[in-house]
Amino acid sequence: MKKDSFPKLSTEIPGPKAKRFVEEDKKFISQSYTRAYPLVVEKARGLIVTDIDGNQYIDFSSGLGACSTGHCHPEIIKAINKQSKKLIHMSGTDYYYLPQLKLAKKLNEILPGKNNKRVFFGNSGTEGVEAALKLARYYTKRQMAIAFFGAFHGRTMGSLSLTASKSIQRKNFSPLVPGVVHVPYAHCYRCPHNLSYTDCGTACVQWIEDELFHHNVPPEEVSAIFVEPILGEGGYVVPPPEFHRKLYKLAKKYGILFVVDEVQSGVGRTGKFLAIEHFKIIPDITILAKGIASGLPLSATIASEKIMNWLPGSHASTFGGNPIACEAAVATIKLLEKNLMKNAGQIGDYMLSKLGEMKENHRLIGDVRGKGLMIGVELVKDKVTKERAIKERSQLLTACFKKGLIILGCGENSVRFFPPLIVTKKQAAKALEIFEDVLTEVERR
Ligand SMILES: Cc1ncc(COP(=O)(O)O)c(C=O)c1O
Repeated sequence: MKKDSFPKLSTEIPGPKAKRFVEEDKKFISQSYTRAYPLVVEKARGLIVTDIDGNQYIDFSSGLGACSTGHCHPEIIKAINKQSKKLIHMSGTDYYYLPQLKLAKKLNEILPGKNNKRVFFGNSGTEGVEAALKLARYYTKRQMAIAFFGAFHGRTMGSLSLTASKSIQRKNFSPLVPGVVHVPYAHCYRCPHNLSYTDCGTACVQWIEDELFHHNVPPEEVSAIFVEPILGEGGYVVPPPEFHRKLYKLAKKYGILFVVDEVQSGVGRTGKFLAIEHFKIIPDITILAKGIASGLPLSATIASEKIMNWLPGSHASTFGGNPIACEAAVATIKLLEKNLMKNAGQIGDYMLSKLGEMKENHRLIGDVRGKGLMIGVELVKDKVTKERAIKERSQLLTACFKKGLIILGCGENSVRFFPPLIVTKKQAAKALEIFEDVLTEVERR
C-alpha cells in the first residue's frame, strides 16, 4: 500500500478499543440513536476519519451532512479561533452582535430572490423547521400544513408531525401537532399512482387539487406546503423538473406558502447553493442547517421581510445564531463560492456516471439518482419486481465500513453518498472501487 493511500486499516474492524467503547456506551448513552456499525471516532481531517484504534477511513457521509467543507478545514478553524477570542456567546435573543448580521446579509445575497429577506437563527435542522411551521401559521393565520410521505423534517413535536419517513420515528409519540396532512412525493421509480414518468402529467400534484382539496382539506385552511427539493432520509429521490413548478403554482393559486426544507440538500451540496434552484423556484420560506456552519450547530430560517414580520417575543432562541457558528458559516460560504460548489457539481457528475455504469453490471442496483454530491443507490432483490433489498443494504453498509469506507443508508433499501464538498476525483474513484468490491461480495452471498 502506498504511504498516502487511504483507507488505512491496521486492526480487525471494529478494533479492540472500539468494541470496549461500544459496550460502555450502551450503559450510559441513550440507545435511540441509529448507529449502523461501530465506528468510534477519535479525530478527523478533510475526508479522513481516524478511529480510537488508529484505523483511518474515507468519510462519504460528512458527519451526517454537517461537515460540508470536510473535517476541520483550516479556514473554518481560523474563523472559529478568531471569533472565540472575541465573543463566544451573548444571545441574539436579547442583544445585537455583528456575526449574525454579517451572515444574514450574506444569505440575502446568495439566496435567490430579492434582497429583502430576514433570517431567524436556530441550532439544528429541527429548530429551523419549527420556526418555519410557526411562521407559516403566524403569517397566514391558517392552521393546516401539507407534507410528503417519505419526508424527514426532524424529531421535535412540530417537525415530527411533518415527518413521514419511517413509522418508528413517530411510534409512541402521538398525539402530534394536529393539522398536518401527508401526500405522496413524486417518486418516479416507485410511482405512487402506478404511471409511467413520461405521460403522468405530474399526477401527484394534480391529486392534491383534485382529491385532497376536493374531498378532505379546504385549501384556504392550509398555511404551507413543506417540501424537500430532493427527498433525503426518505431515499434520495429526485423528482421530475415539473414537480416543484406545478406544486409551487398550486400553492400560489390558494395563497399557500411554499416552504423548502434544504437542511440536507442545501448549502452547495447539489452544485447550486439551494437544490430548489435547479427547479427555478424562489421559495417563500427556506430552511438551512447541517452543512451551513461546517459542523457547528446552526440553522437559518429565511423569508421575505413581509412574511417574517412577527412581533418581538413571538419566537426566539438563547443559543441560535451563536457568534462562533455564524462566523464559521460565513467562512463556509466563502469556500463554497470560491470553488466547492463547482467541485460538488463536477465530482457529482463523475460519480453519477460511474454508478450508472455499475447499475448495468450489478443485479442488486435498481436505481441510481441524485444531483451533485447527493447521490442515492436503491438496492433491489429483483430489477423487475423491485422488491426491496433491505438485508443486503445493511450487509453492504457494514462491509463497506470494514473496508474503510464510511457511507450511510437512506430509505429502507438505499445507500447514500454525501461526501464533503472538498472530495477529489481520486477519493471518489477509491470510494466507488470499495463500494463495487463490496457489492460484488454481497451479491455472491
Ligand atoms: C431534510 C431534513 N430536515 C430536517 C432535519 C433535522 O435536522 P436535525 O437533525 O439537525 O434536527 C434533517 C436531518 O436529517 C433533514 O435531513
